[in-house]
Amino acid sequence: MQKLILGLNAFHGDSSAVVFNNGQLTTALEQERLNRIKHWAGLPLDAARACLDGVHPDHIAISRDPKANLRAKLLRAALRPTSWGRYASRAANSLQIAKTGQQIQAAGIGHAQTQFHFVEHHRAHLASAFFCSPFEEAAVISIDGFGDFSSVMWGVGRGNRIDVQDAVHFPHSLGQFYTAFTQFLGFPKYGDEYKMMGMSAYGEPRFADKIRDVVKTRNGHCRLNLDYFTHHSKGVDMTWAGGEPVIGSIFSSKMAEVFGPARVPRSELLQQHYDLAASVQTVLEENYFDLLNHVQKQTGLKTVCLAGGVALNCVANGMVFEKTDFRDIYIQPAAHDAGTSIGAALYVQHQILNQPRSFVMRHVYYGPEYLDTEIQRDLDSAGTVWHKLPEDDLVQQTAARIADGLIVGWFQGRMEFGPRALGNRSILADPRRKDMKDTLNSRIKFRESFRPFCPSILAESTGDYFEISYPSPFMVTAYKIKPDQRDRIPAVTHGDGTGRLQTVEKDVNPLYWKLIRKFGDLTGVPVLLNTSFNENEPIVHTPAQAIDCFLRTKMNVLSIGSYLLLKSENLHLSESRSAFAATAK
Ligand SMILES: [Fe+2]
Repeated sequence: MQKLILGLNAFHGDSSAVVFNNGQLTTALEQERLNRIKHWAGLPLDAARACLDGVHPDHIAISRDPKANLRAKLLRAALRPTSWGRYASRAANSLQIAKTGQQIQAAGIGHAQTQFHFVEHHRAHLASAFFCSPFEEAAVISIDGFGDFSSVMWGVGRGNRIDVQDAVHFPHSLGQFYTAFTQFLGFPKYGDEYKMMGMSAYGEPRFADKIRDVVKTRNGHCRLNLDYFTHHSKGVDMTWAGGEPVIGSIFSSKMAEVFGPARVPRSELLQQHYDLAASVQTVLEENYFDLLNHVQKQTGLKTVCLAGGVALNCVANGMVFEKTDFRDIYIQPAAHDAGTSIGAALYVQHQILNQPRSFVMRHVYYGPEYLDTEIQRDLDSAGTVWHKLPEDDLVQQTAARIADGLIVGWFQGRMEFGPRALGNRSILADPRRKDMKDTLNSRIKFRESFRPFCPSILAESTGDYFEISYPSPFMVTAYKIKPDQRDRIPAVTHGDGTGRLQTVEKDVNPLYWKLIRKFGDLTGVPVLLNTSFNENEPIVHTPAQAIDCFLRTKMNVLSIGSYLLLKSENLHLSESRSAFAATAK
């Protein structure tokens, strides 16, 4: 019987909704794309409505379970009566989760027979990794900050079941370890961890010995030295700045006693900061691989599936084959909490409804798309000059302009789900130009100079440029670029000689593949620099947002649906918008 399942990541960062219809993922959307607030946390009703498109789900799966780990929670509370105030506030949060069903019903999303399921956070992460993978059997590991009182969970996936073997509970967490140092280095925003990861390539791990005193993983169980932390004693506050979430500081004064003063946000970055980042990354990797190797030995399996925010550490992911005996890997592309909506729905589908598996998540193009007629309406309403072209001409002209050093906005097909733009809502540029990173930063992205731009490469050419050719379709692994190729693609070669690559397969994204192929024909390099289509905001969602971003920034070309726009022909609009933006500031 056909089943419609709505999956929700609610009241966690990166709240999201997805729909599975008869076993297949049909739509997936993060609420931040709609309300334009990065990493938004709450009940994603707009995203749910957009995914459902007027139909009612038979099941609603939410990736939180207030009843999970109740014994561990009660035991911890009983042992610490001074913390009861904090536990009361956590209980209030659980109550809010428990009331989610009523709120959803009140919003008119379910029907009288709709069944609600609360899926423990890490079980949802595990399900998002294994049930989306092509594997019949694998070790499955989830690693993050915290969710439902746990920070790690692992087990074995076989067919349509996942058998959970072990977990690590509050207050110990590899994710919290990484977040605390990210904050200490002056990056307080939710999701800033990738900045410290980017910095790590430019430092020496000279503080690694001292950091080994902060966290240690043995037999898969990480243990924090709680003297360095406050999350266990003071709790974690979430506030909002400019619409974005900011997590309250979780490191204690001991951190400054041992490592010197915390860096003030936006102050100058010194070599010691890069060295500290490199040291944290080194110790993270040691702990990460202790866990992975423990799981590998316990299960005897050679295949692993990963999810959880820590599984977005592409530097560590790129070393899995070198540091462990795993030989096949699948990393959920939305490994952060947005992906738990997928996992919750799949958990219900398989673990609860016992349905057989029939879905593999090979791409992330599950968001909205727009017809040419809708795009042209927005182009005309903005008063733009455009050229409508057959597909081959659009590809040829776009590739030629990238090869000429121009910056192109590329808006095609269905929007990506998850943190990465993977060739449908992307800004594209020539990776051969050493100065392209600075050009992009000075014109559009305004990012810190230590953050890398990433390559999209034809899957069949991966081995020509990278030391590992194992597929990396979601930009969640960094491989070493072959030394003799680094000078050919300097704009996407990071400080440590790696590239966080997207391998593009023809049958997965034929249009994007065709564009890279055409660029390769023109230049001899089948690689494009690919960064997300946005300017300090969530990735663009609608044609109007893409047109506005094109006109507002110093982007040279916009390829949107069948339409090509040149900035040189739209300068009058661009200048007026920039002038307006300057006045508005
Ligand atoms: Fe999580």
